[in-house]
Amino acid sequence: MGVCGYFAVSWKCLVVLSFRLLLLFPTGLPVHSQGDSQTDSKVMDNITVRQGETVFLRCAQGDIVTHTAWLNRSSILYAGEDKWSVDPRVSLVTINQEEFTIKIEDVEVTDEGLYVCAVQTSSRPRTTSVHILVQVPPTIINLSKDIMVNEGSNVTLLCQASGKPYPSLTWKLLSPSDVLESEDEYLDLPNISRQRAGTYECTASNDIGKDAQTVEITVNYAPSVSDGRDVGVALGQGGVLECKADASPEADFEWYREDRRIFNDFDGIVIENFGQLSKLTFLNVSEADYGNYSCIAINKLGSSNTSFLLYEIIEPSSSTLLQGPGAVQDGNSCSMATHVQTYSCLLLAFVLQFLLRF
Ligand SMILES: *[C@@H]1O[C@H](CO)[C@@H](O)[C@H](O)[C@H]1NC(C)=O
Ligand SMILES: *[C@@H]1O[C@H](CO)[C@@H](O)[C@H](O)[C@H]1NC(C)=O
Ligand SMILES: *[C@@H]1O[C@H](CO)[C@@H](O)[C@H](O)[C@H]1NC(C)=O
Ligand SMILES: *[C@@H]1O[C@H](CO)[C@@H](O)[C@H](O)[C@H]1NC(C)=O
Ligand SMILES: *[C@@H]1O[C@H](CO)[C@@H](O)[C@H](O)[C@H]1NC(C)=O
Ligand SMILES: *[C@@H]1O[C@H](CO)[C@@H](O)[C@H](O)[C@H]1NC(C)=O
Ligand SMILES: *[C@@H]1O[C@H](CO)[C@@H](O)[C@H](O)[C@H]1NC(C)=O
Ligand SMILES: *[C@@H]1O[C@H](CO)[C@@H](O)[C@H](O)[C@H]1NC(C)=O
Repeated sequence: MGVCGYFAVSWKCLVVLSFRLLLLFPTGLPVHSQGDSQTDSKVMDNITVRQGETVFLRCAQGDIVTHTAWLNRSSILYAGEDKWSVDPRVSLVTINQEEFTIKIEDVEVTDEGLYVCAVQTSSRPRTTSVHILVQVPPTIINLSKDIMVNEGSNVTLLCQASGKPYPSLTWKLLSPSDVLESEDEYLDLPNISRQRAGTYECTASNDIGKDAQTVEITVNYAPSVSDGRDVGVALGQGGVLECKADASPEADFEWYREDRRIFNDFDGIVIENFGQLSKLTFLNVSEADYGNYSCIAINKLGSSNTSFLLYEIIEPSSSTLLQGPGAVQDGNSCSMATHVQTYSCLLLAFVLQFLLRF
């Protein structure tokens, strides 16, 4: 043997020899005494440790040990009591006749690898090797931003994560539903429809943990208004036309009487908007109010319209008997009166109807 000229093995030579052996024999296989070699090699079970934890490396000694060392790859961490490593995370725990134990605190991914304890006894050198495997919980490191697109666009969401073992990734549409969309870092949504708008969650998970984050997709589309419902109202009563538009972003509404635009609070007409709904309210319908109305819902992607007919209905016969329209109010028009008047109005209607019986 070139390096170890004499059989009386020097300490330095032992270390070199140990490495020769490590290179010669694939790790993971139990290696026993080999040919003319005088070294015993033992492979311990792998140690699996989470990032940030502390790992103890214990090596059995013997009463005739002369030299002993722990090595990380080709560098000596400890030679007996002497610390060779400059890493403050590495420290000596125990060194006595039974064991030689060091610890590595705050374990990092780069600490993963083969660690060897080399022991020189009076008879033969011996090595014990152990593989440290470091696990890291998943972290999502790159996620698509919230996006707003027009219906029909091709959307691709991306979610990238780190972790050891490498995490598996899943995409789910959280709201409005709870559907698994993809088991990949990419989520393709070609020709996106309004139904696929919502909150998407990416989950990265491995053996030791998981991380989840969400992305919002807003899908814009042109308004579509529901068909108008014609409304019959008696003269002097109140009436409401309702226009409902499905749109994103929310539509602005315009109301027309034939071709003339109607504005709020004009001519006894009130226009109120509640998100998707616009209401045109007549406080007191007159002859001139009957006719054809249309509602147009508009957003940046387009518009949609519908038309309504406000038509006259004849008052109930009991009322028409009394001095024509407007003279007697039924319960419905009572509600149009002010609060103070309501009670006396109801009372009057009741008394009049009572008198009619005679
Ligand atoms: C120890 O870990 C190494 C590296 O990951 C692997 O090749 C080997 O099979 C493991 N051995 C055992 C006993 O799990
Ligand atoms: C082990 O060696 C690797 C590669 O040189 C290094 O990155 C790591 O910090 C070392 N770990 C310890 C605990 O010495
Ligand atoms: C995130 O992914 C995008 C698209 O692949 C890429 O351009 C960007 O560099 C990534 N950012 C990080 C921090 O990895
Ligand atoms: C979406 O993808 C399809 C098929 O790949 C393509 O034909 C179409 O032009 C794309 N649409 C847009 C808006 O990019
Ligand atoms: C996109 O989807 C709409 C409605 O789902 C469909 O009518 C249209 O043909 C689709 N376009 C393409 C390019 O697939
Ligand atoms: C409705 O209008 C008519 C005619 O202008 C009027 O006579 C009547 O008092 C009004 N009704 C209400 C409840 O304001
Ligand atoms: C009402 O007006 C709209 C648009 O001006 C028109 O399309 C519709 O036919 C009219 N309806 C009636 C009943 O006249
Ligand atoms: C109402 O919608 C019809 C198609 O549904 C369209 O032809 C018409 O021009 C629209 N009217 C207005 C005033 O936007």
